[in-house]
Amino acid sequence: MSLAILKGICGSEVEALSKLSTHLSDKILGEGAGGDYTKMIDLVAEEAAISYLKSIGFEGRLLSEELGEKRFGSADYPLLVLDPVDGTTNATRGISFYSISVAASSGPLLSDVYAGAVMELPSGKLFTAKRGIGAYLDDKRIVVKQPSTLKEGLVGIDLNVQGDEQKMAEIMPLCLYARHVRNMGSAALELCYVAGGALDLYADNRGLLRVTDIAASYIILKEAGASILDMQGAELDCNLNLGERVSLIAGAQNACREALSLLKRGAPV
Ligand code: IPD
Ligand code: CA
Repeated sequence: MSLAILKGICGSEVEALSKLSTHLSDKILGEGAGGDYTKMIDLVAEEAAISYLKSIGFEGRLLSEELGEKRFGSADYPLLVLDPVDGTTNATRGISFYSISVAASSGPLLSDVYAGAVMELPSGKLFTAKRGIGAYLDDKRIVVKQPSTLKEGLVGIDLNVQGDEQKMAEIMPLCLYARHVRNMGSAALELCYVAGGALDLYADNRGLLRVTDIAASYIILKEAGASILDMQGAELDCNLNLGERVSLIAGAQNACREALSLLKRGAPV
C-alpha cells in the first residue's frame, strides 16, 4: 500500500473540516471507542476518511479513535490506524496546533507499522515516512536532532496528569533539568517535531496514550533515526488495539538515555 492512500485520507478530512463551522465543531456527540468524548469535529473528520476509503475500494481494516474497528472487504491487512483529529481540544478552542494521524500496519503490533502520515493543521504541513525510505516534512528529508545535553534542550512533556501527583513527581526531574519545556496538546504532532529536530525529546509518563495517537509518528520517528522507548528504556511495542495505553520517551538515543537516567535518579540541584 502506498503513501498516497494515507495522504488521500488527510486530504479528504481537510476538505470536510473546511465546511464545518467553528461553533459546531465543539458539540459533544457521545463517547468514542477510544474512551474520550466524540466531538462533532472528530466525527466529521472520521466520516470523511471512511467515505474516502470506500470511494477508492480500499481492502483491509481501519482502527479509528471514535468508531473502533471497521472492516473493508475480507482482507485483515493492511490495518490503518487513524486518529481523525489529534489535539481536539486545541482545534475546538481555536489553537492552531492539531493534526490528522494515520498509519498502515502489516500485522497486529506497533512494530508492524510500515508507513505513516501526520498532517499538521491548520497549516497543512505533512510529515510522512515509509519503512526503508526515510522520513519527510513535505518533500524535505528530516532527521532527529542529536543534542549534546538536554540541559540546553527544548523538551516536550505531556503534563496533563489531572491530579495524579505521583506521575507529576516522576516527570518533575526532566521539567527542572531541561532549558525549555513545551506541552503543546497534540502528541502525534509533538512526536513528529522530535523527528524533524524542532524538539530535542518528547516524554509522556502518564500511561494514557493510545495507539491511534502514536502509530504514524512511530514510523516517522524510526525513519528519522530516533529511538522510541518505554519508561524502562526498552524499545516501545504494543498491540494495535484501542485498549492499549502507553508511556513513552522519544528522541535521539543519547537524549533518551540522558532523560531516563535523570528520571531514575532525580534532578541535580
Ligand atoms: C490527545 C492529544 C494530547 C494528549 C492526550 C491525547 P486527542 O489526543 O494527543 O496531546 O495529552 O492524551 O488523547 O484526544 O486530541 O485525540
Ligand atoms: Ca488522539
